[in-house]
Amino acid sequence: MSTAVKPIREALRLPAGSQVTVRGWVYRRRDLGDKAFVVVRDSTGIIQAVFTPESPGHALARKVTVESSVIVGGALREDPRAPGGKEIAGRNIEIVGLAENFPIRRDASREFLLEVRHLAVRSRKMTAVLKLRSTVFEALHEWFRSNGFYEVHCPMFISAAVEGGATLFPVKYVDGSTVYLTQSSQFYLEALIYSLEKVYTVAPSFRAEKSRTRRHLTEFWHAEAEVAWTGLEGILKVEEELVSHIVRRVLEKNREELELLGRNLEPLKNVEPPFPRISYDKAIEILQGKGLNVKWGDDLGADEERALTEEFDKPFFLYGFPVGVKAFYHKNDPSRPEVTLSADLLAPEGYGEIIGGGERIEKLEELLDKIKQFGLNPSDYEWYLDLRRYGTVPHAGFGLGMDRLVTWIAGLDHIVDSIPFPRTVTRTYP
Ligand code: 4AD
Repeated sequence: MSTAVKPIREALRLPAGSQVTVRGWVYRRRDLGDKAFVVVRDSTGIIQAVFTPESPGHALARKVTVESSVIVGGALREDPRAPGGKEIAGRNIEIVGLAENFPIRRDASREFLLEVRHLAVRSRKMTAVLKLRSTVFEALHEWFRSNGFYEVHCPMFISAAVEGGATLFPVKYVDGSTVYLTQSSQFYLEALIYSLEKVYTVAPSFRAEKSRTRRHLTEFWHAEAEVAWTGLEGILKVEEELVSHIVRRVLEKNREELELLGRNLEPLKNVEPPFPRISYDKAIEILQGKGLNVKWGDDLGADEERALTEEFDKPFFLYGFPVGVKAFYHKNDPSRPEVTLSADLLAPEGYGEIIGGGERIEKLEELLDKIKQFGLNPSDYEWYLDLRRYGTVPHAGFGLGMDRLVTWIAGLDHIVDSIPFPRTVTRTYP
């Protein structure tokens, strides 16, 4: 091949007549005998090459199969019918890896696509989602780093539940004891605010969720933050600034991907602080008004959340949950002890909860009482209690489900499509 290899996006920008070489995988192929069309994709785009009997690559172009890896060279020419408005008058084609009959067909079922996910990640849809997901993670780090947060790393093997025993994954440890996969790095972040004050981490969390829903994974990516010397109000500000920054960045960097995914951009353009707030009390009233069977004290599930999202055209905070439905570490509201100083952030358009967070109990006695009240054993939380013994401070934090965030921003209808290799109740392969 004579010319240097160019990413397809760059090749398409060259003037007609330029000699180009691109490399990638065969996206589509059509053999009309005298003309062989080979559409090549790489990570940047797709381009069509047309081989006629006069071109040295004609015979190979006729026999190349879908998903073969190829290097294609020729002269660029205008063609309004071609994807990208230009095509390559194909000269040479080198087949690097001739693909066997590719198993994915247009009408493949969701279940089959998950079974061959190692191949399905090549689809244009998955490629678009993964690019968008990359921006989401990049923007998250960018925001935290430029707002005085330190990134920290916490263990995945833990010895006591953060979010209740029902969803713990036990693991047989090297010494024969049983440990668990972490559900949340929160307690470690709480320990780290005593040295760094503002910390965050992005790591997998594990939940043995029995529920098969569109928004539950058994292993999900969890961005968590914890801030010393602040309360509920302060942490909600962090959340709304962070989420708005991420959405802004995606709108800047991923227009093409959003378009390919058919995402309506209007609701995303609306994502700017401040986010509206609604109390749990008011939410119950609204839900009852809509005919849902809920009463004060109930936890709200996906259906209730979906109904509430109809009331808002941007993300909104749902605050003031009853003590019984939130984890033991949440501080009770001193002016109304039956509710917690906590809030969830719900994404609009039916998506629902993407963040859970709030103010933590800072007083030792109060924490001990709540642990007992929840039927838990204080001796399981010795080191966590220590944090209240040695220089306790008011503090607050939150956990953001990154896969749920991507699902919403990309406008996907199922969380499994937000992550390349989803882990669910029924899937640990590939
Ligand atoms: O509300 P959760 O359970 O809160 C905590 O784990 C806190 N300890 C976090 C903290 O304050 N540091 O989970 C936080 C978020 C949820 O809002 C949701 O977006 C996501 O994590 N999440 C899940 N995402 C996918 N699959 C699951 N099974 C999830 N469980 C929680």
